[in-house]
Amino acid sequence: MQYFFQLGNFKGLSQAELSIVFEGFGLNKDSIKNFSEKILLVDSKELNDNLAIRIFNRLGGFIRVGKMVQNLEDFLEDEYSGKVIFGLSYIGEKRFDTDKFSSLASQIKKHFKAKDIGSRFILPKKTELNAAQVTKNSIIEKGFELCVIENSNEQLYGRTLAIQDIDGFSYRDYNKPSANTKMGMLPPKLARIMCNLTGIKEGTIWDPFCGSGTIPMEACMLGYNVLASDSDIEAVKATDENIVWLSESGFISDILYETFEFNVKRPRGDVLRKLKHTELDAVVFEPYMGPPQTKLVSESQAKVLLDDVKSLYKSLIFVLEETGKRHIKMIAIIPSYKTATGWKTFGINEVFSKRWKVLNKSYSREDLKWERNNSIICRNIFILDRN
Ligand SMILES: C[S@@+](CC[C@H](N)C(=O)[O-])C[C@H]1O[C@@H](n2cnc3c(N)ncnc32)[C@H](O)[C@@H]1O
Repeated sequence: MQYFFQLGNFKGLSQAELSIVFEGFGLNKDSIKNFSEKILLVDSKELNDNLAIRIFNRLGGFIRVGKMVQNLEDFLEDEYSGKVIFGLSYIGEKRFDTDKFSSLASQIKKHFKAKDIGSRFILPKKTELNAAQVTKNSIIEKGFELCVIENSNEQLYGRTLAIQDIDGFSYRDYNKPSANTKMGMLPPKLARIMCNLTGIKEGTIWDPFCGSGTIPMEACMLGYNVLASDSDIEAVKATDENIVWLSESGFISDILYETFEFNVKRPRGDVLRKLKHTELDAVVFEPYMGPPQTKLVSESQAKVLLDDVKSLYKSLIFVLEETGKRHIKMIAIIPSYKTATGWKTFGINEVFSKRWKVLNKSYSREDLKWERNNSIICRNIFILDRN
């Protein structure tokens, strides 16, 4: 069966996420092929509609999943009861041809009319229907979204099976009761991607710099057990409050989590002893990267900021060694700062010994980066395995 997965904005990250989640479901990541800048195609006997939807619903880095349509006429012969609501989306690299699109829509409408079936066409606001249009009009349930998928050589059709729950992600982002905007918060989608990059199917994830708890929240959503700590007791309380809210809002049930105050630079003996006896499968975090920057930093400022981040990493690695944690994954963010003379960062080998293997290249050809337009900070993401 052939399926398509539509990539979000950060291609390398999304591609790595899908490959790793595929492996977690026992599927071969080599069945994932690049079709275009926006689309990955999957050809796998093991994949079916339900599994494709289950996999998609875990992901943070994808917009749509769908099944390829081999023949448009056969596809339209599907049985429909009641009025068919349908939409068209163009996911391609060429200039979008509105006329061709309108003529395809009227061809489909005519087809239904000839069969005495009522239909309603939902016009995309841009080239693609957005998630709200698809969900609010119940397009997937009451009809279909047909995607025209194109690269420079080929045009294919696909039928959407599921679309990203953008409302859920933004609800968690903007409605959680505790938010520390001054400290900076990760977007929930990135937190979700980072949890998935661990490749662990179940077990315990620790965020030692939890802030307002974006990573712990998404980890709970994915069904992991969660440890969340921070040197700032207010951050610990915020995370606690947000996780309780997540549960009260019906996003999660049956979760196991613990929050605690912990400064990785001054690790308390009692917490170290407790950590020693706690099972841990992965550490996922965004370290403190200095106050939010709005303009270019000087080279010397960048050096100070980077030295601080390096020192946090060294302390965290020391804690993990002290508590005897082996065979764990780490998803780490190393920042780059933009200066007048270019981007400044540090190499992963400056803080990690050879015992930590970097797995990025096995999952994506692109570097794993998260960077907002015109931002002066870029987050470089690393998948590490401590053997
Ligand atoms: C960038 S924020 C994390 C934001 C979080 N990912 C979120 O989305 O809300 C970094 C956090 O690291 C914490 N921190 C700074 N130094 C620390 C240390 N030495 N040990 C533990 N936490 C520390 C800060 O209090 C802050 O909450």
